[in-house]
This record gives sequence, C-alpha cells and structure tokens, in this order.
Amino acid sequence: MSVLVTGAAGFIGSHLVDRLLDAGKTVIGIDNLVSGREDNLQLALQSGRFELVRADLADINELTTVLGDVARGVQFEAVWHFAANSDIPSGTAEASIDLRNTFLTTVNILELARRWDIKSLSFASTSAIYGVMPGQIHEDQGPLFPISNYGAMKLASEAAISAALERFLDRVAIFRFPNVVGSRCTHGIIYDLFKKLQFGPKYLEVLGDGTQRKPYLHVTELLDALFHVWTNAPERLAFYNIGPLDQGATVSAIAQQALRAAGSSLSIRYTGGDRGWLGDVPRVEYSIEKLRSLGWIPRLGSMQAIEKACREMAEESGF
Ligand SMILES: NC(=O)c1ccc[n+]([C@@H]2O[C@H](COP(=O)([O-])OP(=O)(O)OC[C@H]3O[C@@H](n4cnc5c(N)ncnc54)[C@H](O)[C@@H]3O)[C@@H](O)[C@H]2O)c1
Repeated sequence: MSVLVTGAAGFIGSHLVDRLLDAGKTVIGIDNLVSGREDNLQLALQSGRFELVRADLADINELTTVLGDVARGVQFEAVWHFAANSDIPSGTAEASIDLRNTFLTTVNILELARRWDIKSLSFASTSAIYGVMPGQIHEDQGPLFPISNYGAMKLASEAAISAALERFLDRVAIFRFPNVVGSRCTHGIIYDLFKKLQFGPKYLEVLGDGTQRKPYLHVTELLDALFHVWTNAPERLAFYNIGPLDQGATVSAIAQQALRAAGSSLSIRYTGGDRGWLGDVPRVEYSIEKLRSLGWIPRLGSMQAIEKACREMAEESGF
C-alpha cells in the first residue's frame, strides 16, 4: 500500500513526504511545479521509495493518464491533498487561479479517489475559510464568509470533501492552519522579506503598517500535529484548527527578526494601511482547544517559530 501526496514539491508537501518516508511508507507525489521545486525533494528522491509525477491536478485527463502509467498495480491507503494556489494576492486579482489550483484540484483528486477506491483523505485547509471573525475562532463557528478567493475555494473544497464522504470515502481529516514557516518555504512573509534583502535594497519595504498580528507555526510542529490528528482523532470527519497557543506575532517584529538573522542594519519602511494586501486578514485569534483536548500542544510560540524559520531562511539564502 502506498500514500499519494498532492503538492509534494511544495513547502509543506515536501516535508510531509519526508515524514511519510521516515515512517516507512512508499509515497507517490504529484505536482506541476507551479510554485513547488524539485529541489525540495532531494532527500525523498534518493530514498528509493518515492516517485514524483509531474501532472496538472486541474486536468482530470492528464492526471489519470500520467499518474495511471506510474501507479499501475499500486494500491493507495490514503491521499494527502496539499496542492493549491499559495499566492493569495494573485488569486484575489485573478479568480480563475484559485478556481483551478485550489478547488478543481480538490474535485479531481476526489474523482480519482472514487475511481481508484482510495478510502482515506487528509486535506490542507486554512484559517482563511473563517474570514474576519471577532474574538477567538473555534471550529464550529459560522456562518463562514471568507474574504479571499483562496479562502472561498478552500471552504468549497471542504464542502466537496464532505459530500464525497457521504458517497465513497471512509475517513477524512481536515486540517485548518494559519501561517506556517520554516525551511523550503515558497511564499509568505519570511520568504518575501529575504527575497527583498537578497537584492541589496536601500531599505526594507514591509507591506501594511506593521501592526498586523497572526499566529505562526513552524512546519516541523505542523507535521507533528497532522500525524497526531491522523492517528488519534476518533471522528470519521475530523476537522481541527492547528496553531500555536499564543495569539501571534506582529509584522514589525517579524521584519526586525529577519533583519537580525540576515545580519542587516537596514531601516524598515512600511507601505501603510492595516493589511498587507486585498483579502489579507490583519488579525487572527485562533482557538486550538479541540486539538489540545485530543492531547497535542505546540512547544514553540509564534515568535519562536519565526526566529527558527528566519535562521533557516538566512542559511538557505546565503546570509
Ligand atoms: N503555508 C501556509 O502558511 C499555509 C497555511 C494554511 C494552509 N496551507 C495549505 O497547505 C498546502 C501546502 O501549502 P504550501 O505552503 O506548501 O504551498 P506551496 O505553494 O509551497 O505548495 C503547493 C504545491 O501545490 C502545487 N500545485 C498547485 N497547483 C497545482 C496543480 N494544478 N497541479 C499540481 N500541483 C499543483 C504547487 O506547485 C506546489 O508545489 C496548500 O494547500 C495550502 O493552501 C498553507
């Protein structure tokens, strides 16, 4: 039995592949490398138990043909669906991006699961499905009104997965997490800041007014939480918020930490406004009470996760 991972060459997907291989699994990954990098899979490709299939998940014919060739005779115990558009501003500017890469990828992977009799599915959802909510966000809050196309297509994906559970899946785990940081990242605030610093700017430009505050989780802890839920959640449809215990780190604290990690004394200039981009949720207060009651608690706070990720990013970017 093998495990199928979509978005395998991405930031989180590649760490997930490594963990599954560490656990002794045989893994087939799918990615069209729209944002992921084959470099992220160096370790996996040397393992002898991993294969990367380059295919567009938004195209069901391409998906079944290309994957069908590689996976002939293989039985899958589960699919971990982590492919999506991860550039939220681009999806806000052009709605078809999230329609294809965030929603259609889900619809098609469900169709593949139906045809190939794959009974278990894990899904990378997001805090963006909740939109702007007052107070701490719990899993059972609603009605849900996302403010980005990305959040909307993730929420629609959750709905499609729920309908598939009624028809042919046996078990589903939906993970709703906010910002994840760490090595191999392909986007996000730390990635953006280091990219800017690599160009040797006169000052560091930071989006918004610096007061945006969100929870951050290091990718190693995210993976711990995913496997904890996967192994221990008793529900047939498990859906859990995953995040740190605190209420987050501010953008200005992150920018200062990035400068420290890069050994830079540049000044910071803010572009202004209470949010980084259209569709950005400037403040997120996240409840992980449900996850805690399942017995998992993160060790790192948001700022510790940021510090660790900045050290990793500084090394990866040659500072
Ligand atoms: N990083 C975060 O902070 C965060 C937070 C919440 C949820 N998520 C979710 O976690 C998952 C992984 O995110 P990530 O941060 O690793 O992003 P990522 O961009 O690094 O990974 C996504 C991967 O999906 C692939 N992909 C996209 N569209 C595809 C398509 N049509 N066909 C095949 N492959 C396709 C990309 O090439 C990429 O490798 C995503 O579903 C994302 O929405 C991420």
